[in-house]
Amino acid sequence: MLGGQLLYEGKAKRVYVKDENTLLMEFKDVVTALDGVKVSQAPGKGVLNAALSAFFFRLLESRGVNTHFIGYDGGRVLTVRRLKMVPVEVIVRNYAYGSLIKRLPLYKPLSKLGKPIVEYHYKSDELHDPLILPEDILNTGLMSGEELNTVNEVSLRVNEVLSSELVRYGLTLVDFKLEFGRDANGRLLVADEISGDTIRVIDAEGRHLDKEVFRKGGSVEDLIIAYSTLARRLGINVGFRCT
Ligand SMILES: Nc1ncnc2c1ncn2[C@@H]1O[C@H](COP(=O)(O)OP(=O)(O)OP(=O)(O)O)[C@@H](O)[C@H]1O
Ligand SMILES: [Mg+2]
Repeated sequence: MLGGQLLYEGKAKRVYVKDENTLLMEFKDVVTALDGVKVSQAPGKGVLNAALSAFFFRLLESRGVNTHFIGYDGGRVLTVRRLKMVPVEVIVRNYAYGSLIKRLPLYKPLSKLGKPIVEYHYKSDELHDPLILPEDILNTGLMSGEELNTVNEVSLRVNEVLSSELVRYGLTLVDFKLEFGRDANGRLLVADEISGDTIRVIDAEGRHLDKEVFRKGGSVEDLIIAYSTLARRLGINVGFRCT
């Protein structure tokens, strides 16, 4: 339990108010799959995902991408800017996988896409985060045209930064999910997390270093090994070893 008022408890994180403009995001040692139906304790996952998120947010900031990240000193808690979240998940895909091949089985799993696909999903647990069109976003006022352009450009830029960084470590970025929020001036920032839960990364042997391990029926231990391997490959020291 952290100091400050608990603002929100989700599946993966607890969010606390630090001050008017600042939140603490505490990453839980819980893993869920199948829309939250499968829930398991996963000791070590919180620290790993906090450390991975801090690593990726720092990288993005260093390349001029504006994010909500303020600070991280180890452990399971990130300090971030408090935003008004846009209830849209942006998925960027480089290779066909997951819901893309479910929606359209014409795609061969892990086939390279001609160019990256940017997908939008409306964040709604009861509707199961449905795929929506850019026109839906504009018609319903979820974002303005200008905001949608920004989100599209920033998401593709994040893809370039993350893909090229991971390649340096012999890893391939299959796809990832982003969330955006607006600050007090209406500026859109990359928010939420970028972690083993929200990216798909494979090594040269095609092994997943992400939550796919668990979705495919692997154990919690397998999941922790996958996330620790990703962290170790990126040179992140999380203060414990399990690989
Ligand atoms: N900078 C931010 N300011 C305000 N809210 C944020 C910020 N970053 C992330 N959030 C929100 O905090 C919550 C984090 O909790 P968690 O990821 O556990 O939610 P979840 O169970 O995945 O549910 P949800 O469907 O709401 O994402 C999310 O609702 C996310 O949109
Ligand atoms: Mg979430």
